[in-house]
Amino acid sequence: MLNVIIFGAPGTGKGTQSQNIIEKYQLVHLSTGDILREEIKNGSPVGLAAKKYIDDGLLVPDSVIFDLLFDRTSKNTNSKGFIFDGFPRNNVQAEILDEKLAEMQTPISLVLYLDVTEEELFKRILLRAQISGRADDTAEVIKKRIEVYTQQTQPLLDYYRQQGKLIPIAGMGTIEEVFALIEKEIDGYLGK
Ligand code: AP5
Ligand code: MG
Repeated sequence: MLNVIIFGAPGTGKGTQSQNIIEKYQLVHLSTGDILREEIKNGSPVGLAAKKYIDDGLLVPDSVIFDLLFDRTSKNTNSKGFIFDGFPRNNVQAEILDEKLAEMQTPISLVLYLDVTEEELFKRILLRAQISGRADDTAEVIKKRIEVYTQQTQPLLDYYRQQGKLIPIAGMGTIEEVFALIEKEIDGYLGK
């Protein structure tokens, strides 16, 4: 299996590039943000509990995330692999993910780190805000999301660097240019 983590701050293009990756490599896309927004839309108890964290730009409790995510990994064991988008977001999540994948005998292959300046993130998210309808796409909440990313998620770069899996991707180009860099890395990994 090919298991990819697409890593980066809010608005770096994780969701956008995941779409390109799943089309070309036929992976199962697991975006914890998308899954949570779906739960909110459906009015489920999990969604209701998660909403207040998301609207404030804070991380939803780990236990909620694990339940939602591992339910989906266990249902897709015949897939060609997974792309994890927006997960893991802290040390506990990274360690539990490694444990789960070890049980499934299919470790993380690559961590693609989309590197984009903070100024560009604001620009991209505020532009998206005009159409997204996402309650967390306001200037104030974006600031909070970036702060939470810097404090809790960014330290994972070291975790994956130590595992020899971290691949920085220059994320400032066009969507097509960034995807070309990603393809080069995945094809290199696959020996193509
Ligand atoms: P989540 O949904 O993961 O949001 P995020 O990390 O803040 O990132 P975004 O989805 O906003 O951005 P993206 O990187 O996907 O960029 P996109 O492709 O859309 O999480 C939301 C919330 O859910 C969290 O705050 C938290 O509360 C909760 N949550 C989620 N996962 C969790 C977890 N594991 N644990 C705890 N809580 C969790 O691109 C952005 C825009 O830019 C788009 O309009 C796009 O078209 C455009 N764009 C993309 N690439 C380019 C480019 N190269 N050039 C120009 N524009 C571009
Ligand atoms: Mg996203």
